[in-house]
Amino acid sequence: MPALAAPCDLDNYLRYPDHSLDERLTELRARLGKRVLILGHHYQRDEVIRYSDYRGDSFQLSKRSAEHPDADFIVFCGVHFMAESADILRAPHQQVILPDLNAGCSMADMAEMVQVEDAWEQLQAAGVADQFVPITYMNSTAAIKAFCGENGGLVCTSSNAPAAFQWGFQQKPKILFLPDQHLGRNTGVRLGLGLDEMVVWDPRKPFGGTTPEVVARARVLLWKGHCSVHQRFLPEHVDRWRAEAPGVRVLVHPECSHDVVAKSDLVGSTDFIIRQIRAAEPGTKWAIGTELHLVNRLAKEFPEQEIAPLDNNGCPVCTTMFRISPQHLCWVLDNLDQGVVVNRIQVKEKVKHWARVALDRMLAVQ
Ligand code: 13P
Ligand code: SF4
Repeated sequence: MPALAAPCDLDNYLRYPDHSLDERLTELRARLGKRVLILGHHYQRDEVIRYSDYRGDSFQLSKRSAEHPDADFIVFCGVHFMAESADILRAPHQQVILPDLNAGCSMADMAEMVQVEDAWEQLQAAGVADQFVPITYMNSTAAIKAFCGENGGLVCTSSNAPAAFQWGFQQKPKILFLPDQHLGRNTGVRLGLGLDEMVVWDPRKPFGGTTPEVVARARVLLWKGHCSVHQRFLPEHVDRWRAEAPGVRVLVHPECSHDVVAKSDLVGSTDFIIRQIRAAEPGTKWAIGTELHLVNRLAKEFPEQEIAPLDNNGCPVCTTMFRISPQHLCWVLDNLDQGVVVNRIQVKEKVKHWARVALDRMLAVQ
């Protein structure tokens, strides 16, 4: 175990190589016991995920805090919107910590509150806003979730998006879907909508780059956001696998583009992907279109399957997830051990109220 001169200073931790902190992390976890709950998203690296009490997808993890009332501190090894969701759903005595505050999600950042309010005002001015129910993907800021809650909408995840859309169409004739155009389009297609019934709203263009006439005909308005990791998968990757590995099963996350999803065998959330692999016959060949750390972990944990990334030449890593390091985790735990809470995530009360409304509506439609 390295001797740390000033344990609470992050710089002291960052100069140590990943595994040199293993002993200290193990000791700290044992000492802090059930007071600390460590949550690890499936995209976290192995050096971090090995210390998590639970690993899971974004929604599963955000619910864990409420299931563990003895935990005073929830250390969320994931990205900012996930820690915010945990803060919204936590018990009053709990505090949520994000080990590196720079661990954001580029997709969530693509829908800023001022842009969404501006879009809504433009829809109001065009006399169509009251025909829309706003639905946001979990991968959005708490403020956007609150906007949806306050305007009669809800939150969805990659696994319950179809149910959320069905609920939305029971409320209003049209859906404004934020911030991932791909999940929105894939969900609409799954429910039988035509591609021409879904129109992209580009917040950087006047009236979203569309017209009131086009919006009047549309069923879904898709916010122009995407995941930089999943958007890199291309239909050509699927074609190459099909040509080179007959019998391969192509399994992708619904944040991939519609062109990729249309050529795949299976599509679903990170948890869905894991369940497919677990249930498959040994020797099944898989090309998986999702973040590389999860794909590599599956390849290690299921050696009886043949598992490879859909894009064998690229490196589909979520760089913001990667910011959470064992060094950051050790720094957080050492501080907690000394009674200091660093990097707390606190959603403002007003935002929390409406975001919770949107999350509770989601729970009711599952
Ligand atoms: P899941 O909800 O499937 O965990 O996905 C989260 C995410 O960020 C995917 O890019
Ligand atoms: Fe955001 Fe994409 Fe990273 Fe998921 S994989 S956290 S959507 S940037």
